[in-house]
Amino acid sequence: VEENVRIVPIAEDDWRQLRALRLEMLADTPSAFVETLQVARSFDDAEWRWVGTMRAYVAAPGVVNLVGVYVTPGCRGTGLAARMLATVVSWARSVPDVRTVVLLVHEDNRRAAAFYRRSGFADTGRSEEYPLDRSRREVQMALPL
Ligand SMILES: CC(C)(COP(=O)(O)OP(=O)(O)OC[C@H]1O[C@@H](n2cnc3c(N)ncnc32)[C@H](O)[C@@H]1OP(=O)(O)O)[C@@H](O)C(=O)NCCC(=O)NCCS
Repeated sequence: VEENVRIVPIAEDDWRQLRALRLEMLADTPSAFVETLQVARSFDDAEWRWVGTMRAYVAAPGVVNLVGVYVTPGCRGTGLAARMLATVVSWARSVPDVRTVVLLVHEDNRRAAAFYRRSGFADTGRSEEYPLDRSRREVQMALPL
């Protein structure tokens, strides 16, 4: 069998096979992994397919807004978020006349704020009411390009 097994990098379209193998390995050797079969089974297709998102758009002349930042828990603390952000920043730099990337982060979201700060963002001093709970605020951070 061994010589018939090809070792290949996986691509985006391979997520179904990845899911099947992941569920198999969690069932076979649960103590080898920190994720349980039960948790892995609860993921929907989108979670298998995508492990994170970041969206960015030109919001005003010279300004890119970064929104929808998410990395699935199992991939946090791995540097993936930094690589995704680098891709966004490099896109923002390629847009003519864009000088800043701005975002809003909930005042209690210390992990995200630490991530942004380490990535070069700084508080602008501005904040807005958090729309889903007006007693809390979202703090604006900006990265000069
Ligand atoms: C925000 C997010 C994308 C960052 O990615 P990440 O992989 O977690 O980021 P990192 O682990 O590289 O960096 C987070 C930093 O916060 C620190 N941190 C972790 N938990 C923390 C906590 N509870 N309080 C404060 N800081 C914390 C980490 O140590 C790290 O700092 P360091 O590099 O100086 O050690 C990810 O955490 C996420 O998807 N969170 C849920 C969604 C979210 O909050 N989105 C942001 C909306 S604005």
